[in-house]
Amino acid sequence: MTNFQVAIDGPASAGKSTIAKILATKLNFVYVDTGAMYRTITLAAKKNGIAYNDEEKIKKLLSQTKIRFEPGTPVQRVFLNDTDVTDEIRSAEVTNNVSVVASFADVRSNLVNRQREIANSNSVIMDGRDIGTTVLPEADIKIFLVASVDERAQRRYKENVAKGITTDLETLKHEIEARDYKDSHRQISPLTQAKDAILVDTTGKSIDEVVSKIANIIENKI
Ligand code: C5P
Repeated sequence: MTNFQVAIDGPASAGKSTIAKILATKLNFVYVDTGAMYRTITLAAKKNGIAYNDEEKIKKLLSQTKIRFEPGTPVQRVFLNDTDVTDEIRSAEVTNNVSVVASFADVRSNLVNRQREIANSNSVIMDGRDIGTTVLPEADIKIFLVASVDERAQRRYKENVAKGITTDLETLKHEIEARDYKDSHRQISPLTQAKDAILVDTTGKSIDEVVSKIANIIENKI
């Protein structure tokens, strides 16, 4: 089989990474979490004392920022220049500022190139916002994963509780909506469903149900 490409896009906290990881393990494909890449650049800006809206300085930072993934259980590990930043990139500060950094043209073109390189040499399940529309427009399967904002906030709330983090459900809901708004309204490759993407609504569905639905779609095409 030549390299196979599965693109999974959708709004924040729709379950993309959970589903993509399980599918990648099941099919023995490489899982590429593109959101983690944008988060890592955002964290690199923070660590270097660069303001999140300083496009020029962030542009310069790109060439000095190595991003590497390593398999890990239960989560894939993410490295910024050899430092494990897996947990740090999920902090509220990074989450609430990543959309600004991800809107810059140079950030996008640099990371899109890195993402395409991985997809050129591996069969991949890649999740993000612009995979089906921009990164891999010829992907074999495109899925657009959605869920109601209430359910997405509930899922994030439960994840936080499990991690011992106290958050207010309404605040989480507003943060999710604000991030979706920024991601869908930016100029370059905004979050949007590709014309040939299959819409999968995960509201009220279990992880197993969603995984088997998408696995069926993929297995019928391989
Ligand atoms: O997927 P995740 O929620 O971790 O993504 C974090 C942020 O990275 C998104 O809110 C978006 O601003 C940005 N992103 C993007 N394009 C992608 C993946 C993520 O702009 N392909």
